[in-house]
Amino acid sequence: MFASAMFDEEHSADVVAASFAGAPDERLRQIMASLVRHAHAFVKDVGLTGEEWAAAVRFLTETGQMCDATRQEFILLSDVLGISMLVETLNNRSVGGSTETTVQGPFHLVASPPRALGDTIDLVGSGEPCLVTGSVTDTAGAPVPGARVDVWQADADGFYDVQRPDTVPAQNLRGLFTADAEGRFWFRTVVPRHYPIPSDGPVGRLLGATGRHPYRAAHIHVEVSAPGVRTLTTHVFVAGSPYLDSDAVFGVKESLVRAFCTVDDPDRAARHGLPNPFRHVDFPIVVRPA
Ligand code: BEZ
Ligand code: FE
Repeated sequence: MFASAMFDEEHSADVVAASFAGAPDERLRQIMASLVRHAHAFVKDVGLTGEEWAAAVRFLTETGQMCDATRQEFILLSDVLGISMLVETLNNRSVGGSTETTVQGPFHLVASPPRALGDTIDLVGSGEPCLVTGSVTDTAGAPVPGARVDVWQADADGFYDVQRPDTVPAQNLRGLFTADAEGRFWFRTVVPRHYPIPSDGPVGRLLGATGRHPYRAAHIHVEVSAPGVRTLTTHVFVAGSPYLDSDAVFGVKESLVRAFCTVDDPDRAARHGLPNPFRHVDFPIVVRPA
């Protein structure tokens, strides 16, 4: 017998938590006991009815049924509940001035196309031309030469390439750059736009039913890796973008919001192969040791 008492309203959490007491894996035992305690407290707190629990089970079933190789509705649910960001934040605290992190999101491709420093990732030529510059240093202030800087973003209409495969070339607005000997990187792109997360499924219905919008503030995804350093997954957000203060997945951190300034400098524009004027953002990145 695993229970020290029979199941009743008062002791429900104790009884069910005790049923996991024999789990050989200590961490699993701890997680299941805590999950049960919080879940039972929640059911009691709101006085959950049978109909409401059945609706929740239907919702979770539909969430699972919406998942396939390219659509992960459960991660989206975790995102809009702020759980993805909480897990990310708890496990990647800024140490020694390291750059803050944020969610990776569903639009990362396993392999962004390798590009040379200074290349453009805009294969279409629409949107406001923009120069992105940055540097990768470690928490001691030393450059990280040869760091891999993987970037991806939505276009000026708020779409990723994979959302418009019939009209946009594959790998548009994606690039894998290698920082130079001083840890610097630079490339050309367009200023991204804010966009809605996929909202044609159960998560979108949840947002609608609760009066929440599905939008993310405009951003460029950046993932930095190098031998001996902890891989950093983050975004640079466009200052002044709508939804910075109400991002649908709670991904915005103040330190990641940067001005995309207008630069009027014909020589500099010509050096970078950009029309004049152009926009410019600088995003210095500090990585932690592995
Ligand atoms: C993204 O930024 O690409 C994203 C993140 C979470 C959910 C949906 C999209
Ligand atoms: Fe994104």
